[in-house]
Amino acid sequence: MSEIRIYTDDELHKIAQAGRLAASVLDFIEPYVTAGITTNELDKLCHDFIVANKAIPAPLNYNGFPKSICTSVNNVVCHGIPGEYKLKSGDIVNIDITVNLDGLYGDTSRTFLVGECSKLAENLVEITKQALFVGIDAVKPYGHFGDIGRAIQKFVDKHGFSIVRDYCGHGIGDVFHGEPTILHYATSSKGEQILPGMCFTIEPMINAGGYKTKVLGDHWTAVTVDKSLSAQFEHTLAVTENSVEVLTLI
Ligand code: MF3
Ligand code: CO
Ligand code: CO
Repeated sequence: MSEIRIYTDDELHKIAQAGRLAASVLDFIEPYVTAGITTNELDKLCHDFIVANKAIPAPLNYNGFPKSICTSVNNVVCHGIPGEYKLKSGDIVNIDITVNLDGLYGDTSRTFLVGECSKLAENLVEITKQALFVGIDAVKPYGHFGDIGRAIQKFVDKHGFSIVRDYCGHGIGDVFHGEPTILHYATSSKGEQILPGMCFTIEPMINAGGYKTKVLGDHWTAVTVDKSLSAQFEHTLAVTENSVEVLTLI
């Protein structure tokens, strides 16, 4: 039995408002993502922007997460906790924003290059951004969720990078994380059917080295086991009768 929620047009409209706000937080913070700023300062700027827009930063206190955004630097795959670390030229940093606007959620992330980065870092970030759009292009109304991971895997394999398996996309809307779980890699399972009114994220995490991750002692920060660089991009999507809409574009 499918537990995947089908949202009404009115609900989808409100999720889209949350999505647009989340995207606008990334646009707002981008010029601040420079060498010398601490991830705590980025967190405070985003927190204040979200609250000024009458929304709640969803990560704050979510299962005990202590900050309002996730900042994942270099070998950090996801769920990096903002702190006193100062960004330096050559770093890559993913900023992941989730807002709760009137009870509905929008979730989006981008990986930013700080100053002058290596060719490897530039290439990894570019391929990861493209991998997200390859996944989005694989979403067809009345298709299957397994189509997404299959398309991303084919693309990423070609470029010699690896796809994280321990973290996935998720249903979103009236909850932060709901059904289904969206794999970014290929499996033998077709997965559930994709139906109009469904709302979910695609958020591939791509590593320059191996796919394996581990969580640090803070119980949140996920890093690559081999210390290789990791990048991620995320959008929130809604399925309509004929297409898929990206709700976290402005
Ligand atoms: N925004 C993340 C995602 O894309 C989840 C962060 S959970 C947190 O699903 F608690 F770490 F904030
Ligand atoms: Co997400
Ligand atoms: Co997110």
